[in-house]
Amino acid sequence: VYEVHEIVVQKVGKVPVAKGDFSHLPKKVKIFLAHCVQLCGPRGIYICDGSQEEADEIIHKLLERGTLTRLTKYKNSYLCRTDPDDVARVESKTFIVTPNKYDSVPHVREGVKGTMGCWMSPEDMKKELDDRFPGCMAGRMMYVIPFCMGPLGSPLSKIGVQVTDSNYVLLCMRIMTRVSPKVWELLGDQDFVKCIHSMGCPRPVQRRVKNHWPCNPEKVIIAHFPEERKIKSFGSGYGGNSLLGKKCFALRIASVIARDEGWMAEHMLIMSITTPRNTEHFVAAAFPSACGKTNLAMLNPGLPGFKIQCIGDDIAWMKFDENGVLHGINPEAGFFGVAPGTNMKTNPNAMLSFQSNSIFTNVAETADGGYFWEGLEDEVTAGIGIKTWLGQPWHVGCGGKAAHPNSRFTAPASQCPIMHPRWEDPKGVPISAIIFGGRRPTGVPLVFEAKNWAHGVMIGACVKSEATAAAEFQGKTIMHDPMAMRPFMGYNFGHYLQHWLDLEQPGRKMPKIFHVNWFRLDEHGKFLWPGFGENIRVLDWILKRVEGDDTIAVSSPVGWIPKKGSIDMSGLGNVNEDELFSLPSHYWLDDSRESKRFLEDQVGSDCPPIIMKLLDEQEAAFSKL
Ligand code: GDP
Ligand code: PGA
Ligand code: MN
Repeated sequence: VYEVHEIVVQKVGKVPVAKGDFSHLPKKVKIFLAHCVQLCGPRGIYICDGSQEEADEIIHKLLERGTLTRLTKYKNSYLCRTDPDDVARVESKTFIVTPNKYDSVPHVREGVKGTMGCWMSPEDMKKELDDRFPGCMAGRMMYVIPFCMGPLGSPLSKIGVQVTDSNYVLLCMRIMTRVSPKVWELLGDQDFVKCIHSMGCPRPVQRRVKNHWPCNPEKVIIAHFPEERKIKSFGSGYGGNSLLGKKCFALRIASVIARDEGWMAEHMLIMSITTPRNTEHFVAAAFPSACGKTNLAMLNPGLPGFKIQCIGDDIAWMKFDENGVLHGINPEAGFFGVAPGTNMKTNPNAMLSFQSNSIFTNVAETADGGYFWEGLEDEVTAGIGIKTWLGQPWHVGCGGKAAHPNSRFTAPASQCPIMHPRWEDPKGVPISAIIFGGRRPTGVPLVFEAKNWAHGVMIGACVKSEATAAAEFQGKTIMHDPMAMRPFMGYNFGHYLQHWLDLEQPGRKMPKIFHVNWFRLDEHGKFLWPGFGENIRVLDWILKRVEGDDTIAVSSPVGWIPKKGSIDMSGLGNVNEDELFSLPSHYWLDDSRESKRFLEDQVGSDCPPIIMKLLDEQEAAFSKL
């Protein structure tokens, strides 16, 4: 044991420790860091402590280098413009690595390209990584970030250690996760999720660095090793690719841990709704990226008498407790939200969350040192000069876009005015409903309810959405995004569906499952539903159902739908309810068949038979209409 320790210290000994005390780190961390140092060859090691002085030092460096610009209108807030080639998640370069392919991805039909995750063999991945990581931090500092996903000390929380050569990533990790030296104490001899991130731009730099944002878009790779609980991310600094606690750990790696340990790691917000009846419920909702999670989680109710409180806006870790009640925590500590569309009308609570201590990435900048993006036209001084995310002069009304469509704010959750007093409760909060949704321009009604748990799993398996700017896809094609997890699955999607089905056990109180669609369009391409704060009207119906009101729903082939007039439309003016709630048979016949084809092609023999059976039943019911 001592020998190992000595060797490790020697290896690291060649590289100066710029900050922190290496000798006091847990032994497994030392071994991990020795490996990272040997592999990446940084000029120094910087062991982060999460303190404000640390942030100040890093911010100062980034301001000097020009990576960050101070937004003088707000306290301690900064704008970052990335290399324009590094602005979104790259699904095609994101891999799950397991010796057995079918542990990672389902058996797809022969000749069909799998879309439910990319697998690579350990041997092939080794070649890819060997071509990238050796010496990748030459001339750069290696920051060591101890972080906890979930409240420190919660039995539902998990610990990770990320090394990175990007101090922007460090700053964002400090907002998005709990970075603290207490993590070392909590960790002791236990295992942790190993996260290695590099921008892939060692010194002397080989390619032209744009916007003081060294990266390597041609060589981006994000590799997950679920069995080793390890992530290696190369070439990109965009949040979803580089803040490894988020999608990589809290969804892809955690979904595997959750399967093994019998819980759930889901792409879901968690919110609390207190009704005018003074009942409180917690619901979790899964929508694909850029489809409204952050907005729903912080909704400002358009009906009187309701109170909304936020627990989390992107990821939920949920586990049934000893009484059979599903409890969820938000493993994150901040919001990494889509900026465009956010304003004081659509999402005032998000706006109030990022008035200080926040980082804005690829947004535009006003001449008076403020942020700007599409949707803020009415909230900036008329005629003010604006600099686009690409640094070009711009003004409202001159055409083109000022902010990148996937531009983001990174803000501490604690600053959100409606955080729930229990948002850091180590036990989590009890979940009474799960909601699925996506961007569905046609055919799909505002809301419907699953007949039972298995039927709800089928509905989740059939989630589809229009492509958004959150990943690399072009255009507005409708893509399958089952459970809103397509880009985030850590293992075979068929096994994941089975895991969901298996969660239903005697003695457990299964949450009711719903599907919503805020994005149905009329024949002129306008939204049929006002959305945002008015979504409370749909939540109201959902909660009445949760409370057992069986006078407000009628049966249909897709499940329970609202009885006419049972959703409060008061004060909304013209809403075309007939179009909003219609269930066109021809559409649903096609859709049921198309969903079956998707599952046959993409999940094949791994798809639990009950899912296909329920889709057959749905198709048969529509064909009788
Ligand atoms: P997330 O990525 O799932 O958290 O999605 P966001 O909440 O950040 O929303 C993504 C985009 O969808 C933003 O531009 C929002 O303005 C828009 N959006 C969110 N909720 C609604 C809604 O209810 N109706 C409409 N029409 N747009 C919405
Ligand atoms: P989102 O984040 O789900 O809030 O859009 C996704 C991302 O990392 O791009
Ligand atoms: Mn979001």
